[in-house]
Amino acid sequence: MIKSSPKPAAFFYFRTMRHFLPNGAELIIRPPVVEDALGLLRNFQRMTQETDFLLFTPGEALELNEKSEEDFIKTYLKNPDQLMLVAIVNDTLVGSITVNHGGYYKRGHTAEMGIAVERAWSGLGIGRRLMTAMLRWAEQHEKIQLLYLQVFGSNDKAMHLYRNFGFLECGRLPYGIQLKEGQYADLVTMYRRVKP
Ligand SMILES: CC(C)(COP(=O)(O)OP(=O)(O)OC[C@H]1O[C@@H](n2cnc3c(N)ncnc32)[C@H](O)[C@@H]1OP(=O)(O)O)[C@@H](O)C(=O)NCCC(=O)NCCS
Repeated sequence: MIKSSPKPAAFFYFRTMRHFLPNGAELIIRPPVVEDALGLLRNFQRMTQETDFLLFTPGEALELNEKSEEDFIKTYLKNPDQLMLVAIVNDTLVGSITVNHGGYYKRGHTAEMGIAVERAWSGLGIGRRLMTAMLRWAEQHEKIQLLYLQVFGSNDKAMHLYRNFGFLECGRLPYGIQLKEGQYADLVTMYRRVKP
């Protein structure tokens, strides 16, 4: 008897996608390879310097290294329930999207997504393309029925992007994020059903 094969890992499911940005640069969206570790590290460290909307502080991001990013990438490559896609422009990794699946049976139908694009390349539709690719994967994943995410309540741009893709706010933890001493933001949870 032929057994149905499990949901393929992202690197098998996705072919490299190529798009042109409004400024003429070519955007490549693809699953990562281990050799992306340094690019991912630099990208993440740059982003923690330029935005307050990520959970890591710049100091925390500096504690990461190429080896930890290699291990991080491998967790996605070996687990077909997890997704990472990277966005490359001019041979530089400028953004990524992830979907994390906890592995517990009782939460096996849910997964948490995260996305970030560097400021120099934001507003050009990279976020929209990463979301589209991620949702295509999630919609045909055999387990995932519900995607959710957490976003700072002050992050209008990200919330606008998520709403465009049908995510709805379902919870808000007042003062859930400590930006600096005495300065807080709400932590908002949003969700989207990907299967009826
Ligand atoms: C949020 C983020 C992922 C968006 O990526 P992006 O590549 O800039 O997104 P896009 O260019 O595809 O644009 C997304 C939408 O935001 C809109 N937008 C742009 N600037 C905006 C602003 N200041 N306020 C509200 N919406 C804005 C765009 O018009 C677009 O909506 P539209 O399709 O209806 O026109 C990116 O800005 C980012 O990574 N920011 C820093 C890190 C972060 O906030 N990550 C999310 C953590 S939850």
